[in-house]
Amino acid sequence: MKIIKNIGCLVGIVPEGVDRKTGSEMDEVVSISDAFLTIENGLIKDFGPAETCPEASQADEVTDAEGGMVMPMFCDSHTHICFAGSREQEFIDKINGLSYEEIAARGGGILNSADLLHDTSEDDLYSQTMERVLEMIRKGTGAIEIKSGYGLNTQDELKMLRVIKRVKETSPAIIKSTFLGAHAVGRAYTGRQEEYVDLVCSEMIPAVASEGLADYVDVFCDEGFFSPAQTDRILEAGERFGLVPKIHANELACSGGVQVGVSRKALSVDHLERTTEAEIEALKGTGTMPTMLPGSSFFLGLPYGKAKTFIQAGLGVALASDYNPGSSPSGDMRFVMALGCIKMKLTPEQAFNACTLNSAYAMGVSDIAGSITKGKKANLILTRPLPSLAYIPYAHQSPFIKKVII
Ligand code: NIG
Ligand code: FE
Repeated sequence: MKIIKNIGCLVGIVPEGVDRKTGSEMDEVVSISDAFLTIENGLIKDFGPAETCPEASQADEVTDAEGGMVMPMFCDSHTHICFAGSREQEFIDKINGLSYEEIAARGGGILNSADLLHDTSEDDLYSQTMERVLEMIRKGTGAIEIKSGYGLNTQDELKMLRVIKRVKETSPAIIKSTFLGAHAVGRAYTGRQEEYVDLVCSEMIPAVASEGLADYVDVFCDEGFFSPAQTDRILEAGERFGLVPKIHANELACSGGVQVGVSRKALSVDHLERTTEAEIEALKGTGTMPTMLPGSSFFLGLPYGKAKTFIQAGLGVALASDYNPGSSPSGDMRFVMALGCIKMKLTPEQAFNACTLNSAYAMGVSDIAGSITKGKKANLILTRPLPSLAYIPYAHQSPFIKKVII
């Protein structure tokens, strides 16, 4: 058994069996001041006020938190970190006035990453991806969903998913993998989008499923990418092979993707930079977690998701980084939390819940991560002594992590 003693504040306690927070529940972050926590076999065994801390003699290891906070590591339920190289030339193009859609229409964007990935070996892709995972862990993220979608032909999609599988087997973080063959139309299918959708449904999905390479299926359902009808076909094909949907919708336009996702029982619908009352109504009473990605709003200059409106309507909201080379080249969940507060006007408590328990739910791991709960994985951030939880998003560039335990 390991003991963490002298915890100034143990933050993010959630009772067993609570898998997400919705509406006003998001206002609450339960904590204990002057606390201890014990770990056995990598799981949270017990915690409580300091005066009930077990004797040091009972432990194999004692860590002194020196009055800092202990909180669950962030969960990042939406990333594209399996990519090759980088795309800073497009960053310069954007500075000079081109939009994300204009860059994509010129054959840049996702297709640019697909070309780079095609020319990168599986081993090299693994090293690049793993480096990003380790960077994210250092910044406090303990669970990461990773999407394919820079292959855009069967072989390269499988290559990506095999790399993600290897990351799953070798990284200390909890990893979930998502097949996103419908991220863009592959170059070989330019002008033949329906045929590309056929390929996704009848060749890629069966191949991915037969190797057990994905947990989820995703589609970029948006203006200029895939239509709601095509999205529905792909999700239906995924469902036949046991892949639960998680989709991209409403980044560039109100696409109808949210409604398709909800009707296919998606675990999450992501982006939502643009949403109306209709999307909020569609989400009410469902198991689908609305997920917003303020890092891509920040980077692309898009509107921020109306998280407050969703919460006022009684819904839960998750936040994720969208770490990818085109629209969000950062996997810093602390910055995501800060953007949630600064730009989306979430309270620090709401943003914290959105980056921990709710994002764990959005990637299907809230039974093992996302909160301080007995029996969950002891993936923990030990902070420097901080005046309050609000200090984390407030002083958003000051180092706050002393150590992570994963
Ligand atoms: O989530 N929106 C679609 N996909 C990514 C961007 C991918 C890229 O530009 O490489 C996103 O923003
Ligand atoms: Fe994305």
